[in-house]
Order: sequence, then structure tokens, then C-alpha cells
Amino acid sequence: MFKKLTLSALTALSLTAGGAMAAGGAGHVEDFAFSFEGPFGTFDQHQLQRGLQIYTEVCSSCHGMKFVPLRTLADEGGPHFSEDEVRAYAEQNFEVFDQELADGDGDFRPAKPTDHFPTVSGDGMGPDLSLMAKARAGFSGPYGTGINQMFKGMGGAEYIASILTGYTGKEKEEAGTLFYENTAFPGGWISMAPPLSGEDVDYADGHSNSLHHEAEDIAAFLMWAAEPKMMARQWVGFVSVFFLTVLASLLYLVNKRIWKPIKYKA
Ligand code: HEC
Repeated sequence: MFKKLTLSALTALSLTAGGAMAAGGAGHVEDFAFSFEGPFGTFDQHQLQRGLQIYTEVCSSCHGMKFVPLRTLADEGGPHFSEDEVRAYAEQNFEVFDQELADGDGDFRPAKPTDHFPTVSGDGMGPDLSLMAKARAGFSGPYGTGINQMFKGMGGAEYIASILTGYTGKEKEEAGTLFYENTAFPGGWISMAPPLSGEDVDYADGHSNSLHHEAEDIAAFLMWAAEPKMMARQWVGFVSVFFLTVLASLLYLVNKRIWKPIKYKA
């Protein structure tokens, strides 16, 4: 199964590479305003919960998220569900094959919080989404300076939202595969049929379920999935820079004091 997967991944790669040349390179990525951007950005708990709903009801039929443990849905700073809610969610939505069951023959059982999101592979299935928001960069250049990235972020979430909203409605068939024109996808033609068209899910919190908002919510959720500790990481960064600034000032003053008798001897 793994071999098959890598092979199809390779063909997809060469197809997109060829397409990229034909259509003249990278797609257009829109700049969305996400709550987690900037040095003090935080994930919006309700947005993550809505994003999970979209993943569950729409994307999970073709995309796995095998690196994300279900129990992290209860984490503070993430979707922050209660332990009971996570247990119910796991049980109701996913099944895992457990080798221990049926006297070692193995059998399916409902998922538990200690399991991961499912692995999905096979024909017509998409790539695993666990790290997608970090595997793609929405913004790049000017090369090497990182200025764009500093102000706009890497844009992985923007890239995903732009893909979902970037379909033009045009289709073409090539070597037996249907491709859909997409302004954000490098090369301009993607083999994923438009998964969202607006009003695909009903949100319990009454939030708008227009295509734009749905795309934003699932993109934010996938950013959290790829980088669940982003807030903690940013906080540590801030504290260290603050600490280094204080330390540098103290060292400056100490240095001045030590040299004072020598500098002003006369
Ligand atoms: C019917 C199956 C199907 C569904 C449902 C689906 N996808 Fe996909 N997805 C695919 C396939 C197939 C690809 C590979 C497309 C390609 O490389 O041309 C893909 C690729 C992707 C990519 C990667 C693009 C890249 O840069 O390689 C992202 C991101 C993505 N899907 C997100 C989603 C999200 C989010 C949802 C739910 C809203 C979703 N998909 C629903 C089949 C699906």
C-alpha cells in the first residue's frame, strides 16, 4: 500500500510540476486575517471547533490526519473540548483496527482519545493533512530576507483557504483524470474536486457558513493541527527576548561601574 501511495504521489508531483511550467508558476494566495498571526496571536477556540466539524464532515472522507492524537482536542489553547466531549467525538466518528481484540486476531473498535486521527490512503484520496499548513508556504520572496514572512507569516493557512476558494469552475480531463482549474494551486489545475461550496455544514454557534468562512475555519484548524504549541512557542520567545534585554542592560551598567575608577583616574 505504501509503495502504491508513493508512486501516485510521485505522478501527482510530476503532473503538478509539468503543469506549473505550462501555466507559469505559483498560484495566487490571498492574505486572510487570522487570529493567530503576529507575535501575540492566539487560536480562536470556536473557530477551531468549527474547523474540526468541517474536517469531520467533509475532508476526512479523503484526507487522514495520522500525526494528530485525538486527545489533543482537549488541550488548552486548542479547540479545548472537555475530556468527555473528546471521548464521545472519538467514539462516534472513527473506528480503529485493534490487534489485541478477538483473541489476537484483531477487530475494529470505536476510537478512543488515546488514538490518532485516521490514516487515509488509496485511489482518489488526498495527502495527509496533519502537517499540510506547515508544508506549504503561501508567501515567499524577497528571497532570503524573510521580511514578508515576518509580517504576513508563512501563509500555510492562507494557502489552504485560497485553494478552497480558488476554483474557477473550469474542468479538463487528462489521461483519464479530471482536473479542476484553481487559481491558488501551483500549475493552476488540481485533481481534488471542489470540496466546499458554502453551506456545507451547519454550525452550532450560528457562525456564517459561507464558502469564505468555512475555508477560513478549516484552514485555522489545520494550522493548529500542524503547530498546536504555537502560542507557547511565541510566549517562550517573548520571555527570552525580554530576559536578554534586561540582562544586556545590567551587563552594560556593571561594565561601566567596573571600569569607572580606571577611566577617570586622573
Ligand atoms: C473526494 C476526495 C477529497 C475530499 C472530500 C477533499 N479532498 Fe483535498 N485532496 C484530494 C486529492 C485527490 C488531492 C490531491 C490533489 C492534487 O495533487 O492534484 C487533495 C489535495 C488537497 C490539498 C493539497 C494541495 C497541495 O498543495 O498539494 C489540500 C490542502 C486539501 N486537499 C485540503 C482539503 C480540505 C481542507 C478538504 C475539506 C474541506 C478536502 N481537501 C477535501 C481529495 C479530496
